[in-house]
Amino acid sequence: MSIEIPAGLTELLQGYTVEVLRQRPPDLVEFAVQYFTRLRESRIQDGAGPGVAVKQGGKGVMFDGEPMQTESNGDDGDEDDDSDFEPPPPSRFNRRVSVCAEAFNPDDDEEDSEPRVVHPKTDEQRCRLQESCRDILLFKTLDQEQLSEVLDAMFELHVQPQEHVIDQGDDGDNFYVVERGVYDIMVQKDGVSCCVGKYDNKGSFGELALMYNTPRAATIIATSEGALWGLDRATFRRLIVKNNAKKRRMYEAFIESVPLLKSLEVAERMKIVDVLGMKSFRDGEKIIQQGEKADCFYIVESGDVKIMMKSKTKADLQDNVEVEITRCTSGQYFGELALVTNKPRAASAYAVGEVKCLVIDVQAFERLLGSCKEIMKRNITHYEEQLVALFGSSMDLRD
Ligand code: CMP
Ligand code: CMP
Repeated sequence: MSIEIPAGLTELLQGYTVEVLRQRPPDLVEFAVQYFTRLRESRIQDGAGPGVAVKQGGKGVMFDGEPMQTESNGDDGDEDDDSDFEPPPPSRFNRRVSVCAEAFNPDDDEEDSEPRVVHPKTDEQRCRLQESCRDILLFKTLDQEQLSEVLDAMFELHVQPQEHVIDQGDDGDNFYVVERGVYDIMVQKDGVSCCVGKYDNKGSFGELALMYNTPRAATIIATSEGALWGLDRATFRRLIVKNNAKKRRMYEAFIESVPLLKSLEVAERMKIVDVLGMKSFRDGEKIIQQGEKADCFYIVESGDVKIMMKSKTKADLQDNVEVEITRCTSGQYFGELALVTNKPRAASAYAVGEVKCLVIDVQAFERLLGSCKEIMKRNITHYEEQLVALFGSSMDLRD
């Protein structure tokens, strides 16, 4: 005799189980009555009524907004508090429909009690994920535990050429880390769409809408076949945004004191804090390699950084011999030149002793430091003078 499992039964029970795990209700039967009543109502409505998000794919309902009777739910109505456990991998076709004005308090520790989102992965997937996330600046200030929570919650996504991963103006559902593929960043202004940059087999995007509860600020289009790792909005807000509040407290005073950033408004400076990462380097470690493609900008937080250049112009120097041209100390920056000239790195940079740097990626640099570029360009004359003094002639530093 064979037993046939009716279609949809597994998903139905899974949906209920997930909600039980999320909400931990005291009375399972009572909770089941409420859960399945809502499920039926949402089917009748064939859409989401206020406070009820209907999960597509027959997975069930989630109780957003209207508090269910749970121990942890007597909260402030922050939508994310209730909606952050979404086991089915969210896809482009399973999107959030609307964003409420979320009164998110990043310091609210209640969110720590939320259940974790876990998308199981094979060892091979986990290796690829770790490799893709190694240089993601937003993850650099997470502690080990937070990072593994983030990695657990990430899910794999494959995209085809011309696929829009994000459309400007949409609500934000996921944050994305690039594993491979090339993606154009298109920004529409006054009806004209402009390509303002690209992600070339690395980087991450989609953080702005999740951080600031704003519509998507750009359209991201895959120009090749590619693979991405997504992180759902709720986990992103619970871990990254919360961590950013700590970051603000840690770096606010320092960022205020950086001469380059003095011309920015306070709010603009805080946006820089939100996107920056922190990297530590051991004595002698190479931070930048001359001749390489540039993807970020550095501000020295502590320690010294030695800028060295290979000279081919001075007769008594053989190729590959590096000469020290200058040092940067706390509050000073380096690695801006290649970003403002679109050229390869003009010099190498090494840590002298233990060094901590704040790091900003090229996209955030373009977006947030545009108004500082003129100040940075003025440096070029100074750099050229340094090189003439050292080598007798300057390199071609300009764009
Ligand atoms: P978000 O607004 O959530 O979705 C679009 C993403 O594009 C945005 O987050 C950033 O991560 C990324 N992006 C890169 N460059 C820009 C830019 N110049 N303006 C706006 N968004 C950008
Ligand atoms: P970038 O070319 O991106 O990487 C190497 C960095 O060294 C460069 O940016 C500058 O920030 C820094 N630097 C300091 N002094 C000089 C100099 N005289 N010429 C070129 N780069 C310099």
